[in-house]
Order: sequence, then C-alpha cells, then structure tokens
Amino acid sequence: METLQTIFSRKSVKTYTGEAVPQDKRDTVIKAALSSPVGMGKFENVHLTVIENKELLNEIDRNAAAFFGDPSRTPLYNAPILVVVSTPNQGNVDSANAAMIVHNMCLAAIDLGMGSCAIYGATAALANNADLVAKLNLPEGFVPTGSAVFGPTEATYELREIPMDKMTVAYID
Ligand SMILES: Cc1cc2nc3c(=O)[nH]c(=O)nc-3n(C[C@H](O)[C@H](O)[C@H](O)COP(=O)(O)O)c2cc1C
Repeated sequence: METLQTIFSRKSVKTYTGEAVPQDKRDTVIKAALSSPVGMGKFENVHLTVIENKELLNEIDRNAAAFFGDPSRTPLYNAPILVVVSTPNQGNVDSANAAMIVHNMCLAAIDLGMGSCAIYGATAALANNADLVAKLNLPEGFVPTGSAVFGPTEATYELREIPMDKMTVAYID
C-alpha cells in the first residue's frame, strides 16, 4: 500500500481471527516500531515488550476487563500479539514517544494486511497491577505507557471518507 493510502484507509480493528502472526510480519512491525522518532533521540527511554504468550495475554485481558468493571469485555480483542511500550515516566514526551511507536506499528500492520489497534485502556490497567507488570521484566523504573495489538483479521480496508471538519482546524494566514 502507498503511504497515503494506508493512512487514509486506516482504522482501528477490534476483531481478530485468532491466527498467529507469521514471524517475518511480526519482525517487520517491530522494525517499524524501531523506526519511530523518539524525543531528543533518547532511544534508551523506550522499552518494547512483545507478548505472544497466550497465558499472559489472557491475564492482561482479564485484568483490564476487571479494571473496567465488565468481565464480558475482551479489551485485547483476542489478538495474537500485544506490544507494550514502556517508558521511565508517563509525562508529555514519554507519552508522545509511546504514541509514535504505537502508531508506526499500527500502520505497518495494516500495510502487511493485518488489523491493528492502539490499546491504552488495558495498558493503564496493566500499569496499575504491580504483579502483572513484574511479569514483563521491565528495566528498573520503567512503566507501561502505551501498547498496540495486531494480527490477522477479516476486516478489510478501503479509503475512508475524511471530512475536512472532522477535527477543528484553524488556519492562520
Ligand atoms: C491514544 C489512543 C488510545 C486508544 N486506546 C484504545 C483502547 O484502549 N482500546 C480500544 O479499543 N481502542 C483504543 N484506541 C482506538 C480509538 O478508539 C480509535 O482510534 C477511535 O475510536 C477512532 O477510530 P479509528 O481509529 O477507527 O479511526 C485508542 C486510540 C488512541 C489514539
């Protein structure tokens, strides 16, 4: 897909077939994450955790559903991979770093014919559960800041109608 076509047809996918992601596609998405810009070039301020372990995915999913007070929800949508972006803090630049990385992964996954979705609710729930965070073996002082799921989906992409007033935009001549 051309870059603009990917951007203009991007959407958050919340249904996954449950099939595994081929390793080459997984690695390409991670390469896209590693291609992201990071504030002041401080790449040491981000840490990625690629989770494919079904037991841990289920624990993170159940933890989030409980955090939201609705056990019927599946906040990770049964996606086969969750990539958690952790940072030393949760301030402006840390959040921006995580968002850049998450979005690069989402766009790359779409380009590779998969579905993807930014996951911040379940990330907040994860960050709130010290026992669960311990299972990520994060570097000292790092906290989960953002994440993305991706994987095979039956969702399809077509160019979306993007009204020019979708967000307010002020032009100052
Ligand atoms: C910062 C951020 C956090 C998000 N967190 C979640 C999330 O926790 N769970 C979820 O299902 N979608 C999440 N999303 C996806 C949004 O719900 C989605 O982007 C929005 O509804 C617009 O839909 P679209 O992406 O299909 O255009 C998040 C998106 C962003 C940018």
